Amino acid sequence: MEPVHAAVIYYSATGTVHALARAAAEGAEKAGADVRMRRVAEQAPSEAIASQPAWEQHLQDTADVAEASLDDLEWADVVVFGTPTRFGTPASQLTSFIATTGQLWQQGKLADKVYTAFTAASTNHGGHEATLLALGHVFHHWGGIIVPPGYTDPIQFKTGNPYGTSHSSAGGPPDDDALEAARYQARRAVDAAAALKVGRAA
Ligand SMILES: Cc1cc2nc3c(=O)[nH]c(=O)nc-3n(C[C@H](O)[C@H](O)[C@H](O)COP(=O)(O)O)c2cc1C
Repeated sequence: MEPVHAAVIYYSATGTVHALARAAAEGAEKAGADVRMRRVAEQAPSEAIASQPAWEQHLQDTADVAEASLDDLEWADVVVFGTPTRFGTPASQLTSFIATTGQLWQQGKLADKVYTAFTAASTNHGGHEATLLALGHVFHHWGGIIVPPGYTDPIQFKTGNPYGTSHSSAGGPPDDDALEAARYQARRAVDAAAALKVGRAA
């Protein structure tokens, strides 16, 4: 049987979510998936980006990461979304990408896939869960199979977010625990997708 196809689709302005996305891609690969790590297109005006050196630098540093396309969604058996928290919601760059999926949705091509999501916010109470649950709304509309990490692994008792990996970036970039949580979350999602694949083929 073909390996599970896993797409890690994320937006990151200053690298926090990018680091989590890389960890998620590693976790998915370790679980045996064929992985596409993709960043959604930047849409902010160049003056806004240029006004923040960390943003401009990260954009340059990740220029070689392929941009997410609708084909990536169609190809995937499991999609792991990553986004910074923006005023308690996903970044507009990610929701703009999601807003281009109408035709795929209409054709039923987004249904029955496994979905899961992770985020970063500046502060502990800055909206981690709100952002993840907002992405959950989309997965419901798509008829997706939502696979959250819950408290299904010891790492989840350390990092503590059952909705999805999240990191508070005011304390610095993602630490080992946050990266391990992202790896675990993706691995769990791939395992679920693999079980579905086997079951559907039977
Ligand atoms: C416009 C804007 C809105 C933000 N809103 C929130 C927020 O609601 N809560 C929060 O804790 N952090 C907020 N942040 C901070 C980012 O979520 C945080 O720095 C995140 O780690 C950035 O991820 P990145 O490095 O991958 O871009 C906001 C940042 C920006 C630029």
